[in-house]
Amino acid sequence: MNSTEVKERIFLSSPHMSEEGYELDYIKEAFDTNWIAPLGENVNGFEKELAEKVGSKAAAALSSGTAAIHLALKAAGVGEGDVVFCPTLTFSATANPIIYQNAIPVFIDSDYETWNMSPKALEEAFVKYPEVKAVIVVHLYGLSADMDKIMSVCRKHDVAVIEDAAESLGTYYKGKHTGTFGDYGIFSFNGNKIITTSGGGMLVSNNEERISKARFWATQSRDQARHYQHSELGFNYRMSNVVAGIGRGQLKVLDQRVEKKRYILEFYKRELGGLEGIEFMPSNEWDEPNYWLSSITLSGKVRPIDIFDALETENIESRPVWKPMHMQPFFEKYDFVGEGVSEKLFENGVCLPSDTKMTDEDLERVIEIIKGLWR
Ligand SMILES: Cc1ncc(COP(=O)(O)O)c(C=O)c1O
Repeated sequence: MNSTEVKERIFLSSPHMSEEGYELDYIKEAFDTNWIAPLGENVNGFEKELAEKVGSKAAAALSSGTAAIHLALKAAGVGEGDVVFCPTLTFSATANPIIYQNAIPVFIDSDYETWNMSPKALEEAFVKYPEVKAVIVVHLYGLSADMDKIMSVCRKHDVAVIEDAAESLGTYYKGKHTGTFGDYGIFSFNGNKIITTSGGGMLVSNNEERISKARFWATQSRDQARHYQHSELGFNYRMSNVVAGIGRGQLKVLDQRVEKKRYILEFYKRELGGLEGIEFMPSNEWDEPNYWLSSITLSGKVRPIDIFDALETENIESRPVWKPMHMQPFFEKYDFVGEGVSEKLFENGVCLPSDTKMTDEDLERVIEIIKGLWR
C-alpha cells in the first residue's frame, strides 16, 4: 500500500446487520403484505419478543430512546416544576426529556466502582430534595448501575424509577436484565447501539395499563371515536412496521453481538493492560455487561487527546467519555450533587473502537498505534 492511501475506517460502533439476512426477511414480509406503516405484525412481534428477552410484561415500540424516556416521565406523572434526579455522566438524551416536561433536573455524580449513579450521592440528594418526583438511572457503556443499593434508597422514598438502558440491552445485574428493576425501562436502537433499527426505542414496564397509555400518547392521543378527537396532548412517537422488522432480525443476533463485544474488551485488556497508567472500565462480580464500548481511563503521561489524535490520523474513531451534564452550557444552571468523580472520568476517559465487525487485524492495528504512544 502506498503511504498516501487512506486505510479503511474503523468505527467506534456501527450498524451490523445479521449475516443470515433476518432483517430483510421481516422487511420483505412488511412489503409483501403492504404493512409499511403505520403499525403491523413487526411492531407487535418486536414488542413481544423484546419484552420476553428482557423479562418485562409489556413493551411499546417508539421512534427513539429519547421518546421512550419522555413517555416514561409522563407515565410517572412528572410535570411542571417537579424535581427529577438524573446521572450527570450520560448523553444529553437522558436529561432533555426532563426539560420537555418543564421539570427540574438535579444531576447526581458517578462512583468509580460502576461509573454509574453513586448511591451515596443519591442519598445526599434525597436529603436536599425530599420532594423529588422521579429518579432516572443510566447503565452506561453497558455496565450496570448498582441496582440493589439504588432501588433500596429509592423505595425508601417511594419515588418512581426510570432506567435508561439505552446502552445496556443484553446487560444483566445479578441475573436480571437491566431496565426491569424500576417502574419503567427504556432501550435505544440508534445506529451506534449494540443492535440497531436505524433509529428507534422501546419503553418497557410490568404495568401493562401504563404501557397502553404510552402507546396512546405516542399515536397523537387519539380518542376512540370515528372522527378525530383528542382529550390529551399527543405525540407522533410510534415505530414504523418496516423499522420494527429490522429490530426483530437484530434481536436474533443480540447474544452474538454481546459475545463479540466481550471478545474485543478481552483483546484490549490482554494487549494494553500492562501499559502504565491504563485502567479499564470497572468490572463487578454482580454485573454481566454487554460490553457495548470498551473504555479506559488514563493517569500517566499519555493523555486521552494523544489517543484520539493518533487513532484519527489512521482513520480510526474513538471518543471521550460523556461530558457530564452539570458541565454543559445548557444544563450548568441546575444543581449537582457529588464529589466530581464524573469530571475525572470525563477528563481521563477514552472509549476505544468497539465495532463488532472488527477483525483481529483491525484490533491489532488499533493496539499498535496505542502502544506506540508509550514507546
Ligand atoms: C444513555 C443514552 N440515553 C438515551 C439515548 C437516546 O436514545 P435515542 O438516540 O434512541 O433517542 C442514548 C443514545 O442515543 C444514550 O446513549
